[in-house]
Amino acid sequence: MINTILKFSGIEKEVKSFDKTKVANIHKMIHEKTGKGNDFLGWVDWPETFNKDEYNRMKVVANDLRSKIDVLLVVGIGGSYLGARAADEMIRGLYPTDKVELIYVGNTMSSTYTQNILDYLKNKEFGIANVSKSGTTTEPGIAFRIFEEFLINKKGNDVAKSRIVAVTDRAKGALKEMADAKGYETFVIPDDIGGRFSVTTPVGIFALLVAGVNTDAIMKGAMKARKELSKPSNEAYKYAVSRYLLNTDKNYKSEMLVSYELQLQYLTEWWKQLFGESEGKDGKGLLPTSCIFSTDLHSMGQFIQDGTKNIIFESIIRVKKPQVDINVPKLEKDLDGLNYLTKNSLHKINSIAIEGVIDAHVNVGKMPNIVLEFDKMDDEMFGYATYWFMKACAMSAYLLDINPFDQPGVEIYKKNMFKLLGKPGM
Ligand code: PA5
Repeated sequence: MINTILKFSGIEKEVKSFDKTKVANIHKMIHEKTGKGNDFLGWVDWPETFNKDEYNRMKVVANDLRSKIDVLLVVGIGGSYLGARAADEMIRGLYPTDKVELIYVGNTMSSTYTQNILDYLKNKEFGIANVSKSGTTTEPGIAFRIFEEFLINKKGNDVAKSRIVAVTDRAKGALKEMADAKGYETFVIPDDIGGRFSVTTPVGIFALLVAGVNTDAIMKGAMKARKELSKPSNEAYKYAVSRYLLNTDKNYKSEMLVSYELQLQYLTEWWKQLFGESEGKDGKGLLPTSCIFSTDLHSMGQFIQDGTKNIIFESIIRVKKPQVDINVPKLEKDLDGLNYLTKNSLHKINSIAIEGVIDAHVNVGKMPNIVLEFDKMDDEMFGYATYWFMKACAMSAYLLDINPFDQPGVEIYKKNMFKLLGKPGM
């Protein structure tokens, strides 16, 4: 369901002849959980092993909440936020007509944004999904305080209690304690799955159920990817090896993930966190960046085509089958000169544009391109693609001899911030 197609003549041979034993050994290490950070490899089997009872309980709670609200506030940051948003936008689009709207808070400490949401909610029925594994992250912690108080003041304690759900650690952490004390429904983030690998756990699934998304199809897609990627020769590892070689042999420093579908923007944001936090350590790793074309062709296109050479390569997501295709109207008087386009559908025009841009960037701009061809863009594909990227990410980091599952660098900003804010004990 995802093909990896190399469009740069300097690299196919090296990818083909890359050490297969090395890839097979890392694959074994991932599956037998023997590599660095092996406590956090629960996501590898999760599409099979996920707790079905909890999943069904989530469906019941989500359906009940769905019937009562117009807006679900999803409180979370990083791995506790980006996956749900990536799925929501990829599957439901940017302007969903479904009755429940998802709004994301806890990913910023902007007072202006927070007040805007409070104003927006004044005449809405809303609920809260508070997602935090540690339960101690500052940004979502502050947001939860504000919106919990707002909901209680607006609807009273009993209604608030029936509309607040915590997704957090099984047993420990401030959020678990608080949710138990206040009688909020809780769902579990598994111990052995880190934030950025957790989208198909309750972290992503609960909010998506409230939004009316077919999460069974997401799990089916993840299961399909797990099966297809269970052997060491696969398209995800081909992608991992290609980006590894571009980085270490050809000295590229940055990978730009490009999509021609606006509703994949948050998939690229999720991907940036996945690869950035997993690979960017010990002075190694590719800087993950992203663009959405056509719009960014008219801002970044110039630099990509003509700017500093040999720092960036592109990975292009090309969707074969759109959710829907439409035609460009033919006009009797062809005043804008666009009638020549009407022999193709809009998706076909977009696909032809992709080929033209790849040709310009690769053959004229001499920029390596990896095309990641997605069969389609729906719930099943979301589950498939996120699992596919997670597997590619683990392989990529292990190829660099890096622990993919920790994020020591993120702790440094937190310590500084806590000290400046006067957190007790810092
Ligand atoms: O990937 C990660 O581990 C991080 O991005 C975390 O998900 C993020 O820091 C939020 O942490 P928590 O869920 O503990 O609030």
